Amino acid sequence: MRVFVTGATGFIGSAVVKELIHAGHEVVGLARSDKGAAALHAIGAEALRGSLGDHDRLRSGAAEADGVIHLAFDNTFMDVAGAITDDLHAIEAIGDTLAGSGKPFVMTSVTTMVTSLGRPATEDDQGQDGSPGLSRSTAENMAIALAERNVRSSAVRLAPCVHDTISQGFATLLAEIARQKGVSAYVGDGANHWPALHRLDAAKLYRLALESAPAGSRLHGAGEEAIPFRNIAEAIGQHLNLPVSSISPEAAEDHFGWLTPFVIMDNPTSNAWTRKRLIWEPAEPTLVADILGQ
Ligand SMILES: NC(=O)c1ccc[n+]([C@@H]2O[C@H](COP(=O)([O-])OP(=O)(O)OC[C@H]3O[C@@H](n4cnc5c(N)ncnc54)[C@H](OP(=O)(O)O)[C@@H]3O)[C@@H](O)[C@H]2O)c1
Repeated sequence: MRVFVTGATGFIGSAVVKELIHAGHEVVGLARSDKGAAALHAIGAEALRGSLGDHDRLRSGAAEADGVIHLAFDNTFMDVAGAITDDLHAIEAIGDTLAGSGKPFVMTSVTTMVTSLGRPATEDDQGQDGSPGLSRSTAENMAIALAERNVRSSAVRLAPCVHDTISQGFATLLAEIARQKGVSAYVGDGANHWPALHRLDAAKLYRLALESAPAGSRLHGAGEEAIPFRNIAEAIGQHLNLPVSSISPEAAEDHFGWLTPFVIMDNPTSNAWTRKRLIWEPAEPTLVADILGQ
């Protein structure tokens, strides 16, 4: 397939591009800089210059492809509302272009929109009020609805820590806080759970979704389904040679700031349906192994 990939220059996108090329697909990646375009050429992809706001570029990239994978997102956390709006408009532009084509469209969502159910979330569960990632559910629902317009759309809900030994998503943010505060903390008994996903397992999941996800499916990008938060805090403390300590819920906001709702969420995430339906077998190292650099 000729695949148009947004976010192709990013941490996850660059792994997805390599995975696609390795599997025999052609890739055209969205690049908003010369550096990004050069990086894409270096790994055997073409580059389409433009940003998420260039909807004509998104439309032409989608029109000329056999399928689209959408990973671009402003992950700086400087303007989350703006990033969400840009995402919605980009999905609209790509979706309108693909409507009626039957082509695959794989978009990026988050597991953190379904938390604190008292059981592992399944792919059938929709965004829950009070969940810290709920703001991304509108984009997910918009993409899923494209199935009714003959787009083979799917949403990959990524765990908060997509990781390798260099970067670990939200766990990297936790490590920065631990360095600043001189302690790696967890709240209460730290028994709440986070899922996690290795970057290379993520890349395989996106390729498999492109190739065979059913129209309108939600997929769980969770290689590990439920890691006790305390284990993550302990690994960070061990790696940074810092003490590890429990803090009270009242002290959490002062310690973790805007990350607090994520730190205290319980986000166990079943991957059973996704693994079975796509024949996906996550096989890469665990989050704790990558934090420890093992
Ligand atoms: N990493 C994780 O642990 C994690 C966890 C959960 C969800 N996610 C989600 O996964 C997706 C990819 O994350 P990532 O970790 O790969 O992020 P990343 O390394 O920050 O990459 C973001 C990608 O989006 C591109 N981008 C950002 N704003 C853009 C804009 N306005 N126009 C065009 N391109 C733009 C970036 O281009 P440049 O190279 O030019 O900057 C880059 O290719 C995001 O939706 C993110 O929220 C990631």
